[in-house]
Amino acid sequence: MRKFREQPFEKPPEEDLPPATGPRAPDAIDRLIAQHGPATICAILAPVLTAERVARIEHVLAARLGSIVPVVEDVYEPHNGAAVIRSAEALGLQELHVLETGVRFQALRGITRGCHRWMDLARWREAAACVDALHARGFMVLATTPRGAIPLDAVDVSRPVAVVFGNEHAGLPDATIAACDGAVVLPMFGFTESFNLSVTAALAMSQLAARRRALLGKDGDLDDARIAHLRARWYALKVRGAAGIVERAVRRAPIDPSAPAETPDPT
Ligand SMILES: C[S@@+](CC[C@H](N)C(=O)[O-])C[C@H]1O[C@@H](n2cnc3c(N)ncnc32)[C@H](O)[C@@H]1O
Repeated sequence: MRKFREQPFEKPPEEDLPPATGPRAPDAIDRLIAQHGPATICAILAPVLTAERVARIEHVLAARLGSIVPVVEDVYEPHNGAAVIRSAEALGLQELHVLETGVRFQALRGITRGCHRWMDLARWREAAACVDALHARGFMVLATTPRGAIPLDAVDVSRPVAVVFGNEHAGLPDATIAACDGAVVLPMFGFTESFNLSVTAALAMSQLAARRRALLGKDGDLDDARIAHLRARWYALKVRGAAGIVERAVRRAPIDPSAPAETPDPT
């Protein structure tokens, strides 16, 4: 009989997520943008990008939604963490908040495909701090639980909404639910008592984002300054060695950011 050699179990690699607590801390790209201004960064990097890339970035920017925000607390399974990030980014949401009150958030690289890089990921140690920060920005913050009182369909999307999802086992702690403005339920009709975490997040975010976009009458809602910053950030993320290219270009000749960018080289 043919013998199979046992393969050692290899854990799939996890994403290196930004380590900061609170809103995403400025990284090297943000510092580059702060130093030279987003228009200068774009003027220097646009010729290095293909026309298709530039067009794709503009298309995604125009549809970026900042007013629907998912929040996850103490996710155990890196598959679930990654699936939430991937769904949120694919739906065009710009922010994801992660509560690490007991469990460090991890996401599998093979599933996210690096898509967290296009988003702003905030990490919090305390649910109350996260909820307070979102309240201060005008968000209504809603918990989700199979025992929630507000059906998803009834959520008011006339103002920015953040929705908090609990973990695979215990769900959300009572303290987090109490800190929120209400608890939402996704109605269920089968024998199963709850949806999977990442499935719930995708179902809820998809519906809320669609309703918010319909109400706004447009796909995206980021202000001009945030769009300009993101455009420069995404250009820099798409170009290998962007920082060096920018520094060398600025040293060679100061850029006039008001001048029209060169046509990108399609090669
Ligand atoms: C697997 S469930 C956790 C179930 C946990 N035993 C409980 O009762 O909350 C993971 C998360 O998905 C969300 N969830 C699952 N089903 C839901 C539903 N029908 N309505 C609202 N949220 C739900 C909640 O955020 C929950 O914390």
